[in-house]
Amino acid sequence: MTKQTLAILKPDCVQKQLIGKVIDHLLNAGFRIVAMKMTHLSRESAGEFYAVHKERPFYPDLLDFITESEVVPMILEKENAVADLRETIGATDPAEAEEGTVRKLYAENKQNNIIHASDSEENAKIEIAFFFSQKEIIDNQ
Ligand code: CMP
Repeated sequence: MTKQTLAILKPDCVQKQLIGKVIDHLLNAGFRIVAMKMTHLSRESAGEFYAVHKERPFYPDLLDFITESEVVPMILEKENAVADLRETIGATDPAEAEEGTVRKLYAENKQNNIIHASDSEENAKIEIAFFFSQKEIIDNQ
């Protein structure tokens, strides 16, 4: 089982100056950051990243939102990282998220939901490779 997963602090997180608070929450939940950067996704890259949602009605709005400003992708490490991060951030819709989760605390709605997390071990590997080269990951240099 891989110990790593990908998180992205989304444009709403950056714009509301919540980067520090959300990182603090993740560290307190036991995750270790082994790679992190700030980047502004082009529409083309965002479309590639969210290709699985291409046919969904919210796809064009999702691309507008995710390219609105910078994002902060990071690789988080912990035992059971994929499932534990999903639990730590809460449901996609903050109205349905558990008390104390990142989205319950900070997200506005289903789209502007502060943070992305890989939804499976397989996608974690794909998404990590989308944002990071091996050289950018701590302990891999
Ligand atoms: P994320 O975990 O990044 O994966 C896909 C994103 O699409 C999701 O978070 C939301 O930002 C967005 N999304 C998912 N479902 C909806 C929806 N029903 N309406 C609007 N945006 C959505």
